[in-house]
Amino acid sequence: MVSSDSGTALASSAIQSNGDRARRGRLAGNVAIVTGGTRGLGLAMAGAFLQEGASVICAARREAPLAELRAAHGDRVSVTTVDVCSADSVRSLMDAAMRRFGRVDILVSNAGVSRNGKIVDLGEREWREVLDTNLTGAFHCTKYVVPCMEAAGGGRIINISAGMSTRVAPGAAAYSASKAALEMFTRASAVELAKKGILVNCIAPGFVNTGMYEPLRDDERLRSRYERMMVSGRPGEPSEVAAAAVFLASAEGSYVNGHVLEVNGGLLWS
Ligand SMILES: NC(=O)c1ccc[n+]([C@@H]2O[C@H](COP(=O)([O-])OP(=O)(O)OC[C@H]3O[C@@H](n4cnc5c(N)ncnc54)[C@H](OP(=O)(O)O)[C@@H]3O)[C@@H](O)[C@H]2O)c1
Repeated sequence: MVSSDSGTALASSAIQSNGDRARRGRLAGNVAIVTGGTRGLGLAMAGAFLQEGASVICAARREAPLAELRAAHGDRVSVTTVDVCSADSVRSLMDAAMRRFGRVDILVSNAGVSRNGKIVDLGEREWREVLDTNLTGAFHCTKYVVPCMEAAGGGRIINISAGMSTRVAPGAAAYSASKAALEMFTRASAVELAKKGILVNCIAPGFVNTGMYEPLRDDERLRSRYERMMVSGRPGEPSEVAAAAVFLASAEGSYVNGHVLEVNGGLLWS
């Protein structure tokens, strides 16, 4: 039994260690890979992880200077090229991460593409591009990050889905199907990887004021149609999605597993 004195000591040491963590950042000492981390939502999540003390590898097909992040965080940020559609390319990414930092604690499978088109018009190539990137890409990343996370004693995987995973819009069949499958893949991964100490969750953003939302934002007719669905009256900011990713990656998210967290400010669908 804990005496009241030692209880007080435990409580104050817990408060102190929380305080230390807050000072060093909630992800201090962790190494994160963010696919699609060179722009849009991925870049915002990479920035938030760096702010919380993690080292981050931003991975995408094209190199990006990331001058602001490098100026603020120096050696803790690096860029590695990867095509998540290729298993070999993803294996090389994990090898590069292990060589550079010696561990991987957090993976965000964020790389994604959208190709709109009604089913009868949609090309095979566009269909495959969406499924290969959004679904098979997450499969490759999960499969090849697991040994790295096992070596680190566990880890966190966060897949980036979308509000469209559960909502229907003409012309979005490929995108919606890929994200719905990604959510099921998340739940299956959570069950299979729990014993290895790896938690797997999903974030499903609504409309976010960056990246893929830009073509909608710039089209007056589409923008007013979509803005009517946003209960909060505005699209989300990348930082609001990044905050959810930090929660899932940090100690605060230690008992959340196999969950799809909708971050959309409330979304109507008619
Ligand atoms: N913005 C939104 O409103 C919104 C809403 C819901 C969900 N989402 C989801 O959030 C994620 C990010 O969206 P975003 O709006 O930030 O998109 P974005 O600005 O178009 O960025 C996509 C990122 O993915 C990378 N990428 C694409 N294909 C890749 C591949 N095969 N291999 C590696 N990297 C690849 C891109 O870099 P390269 O082109 O150089 O490879 C880029 O860094 C996506 O999964 C998207 O579905 C976005």
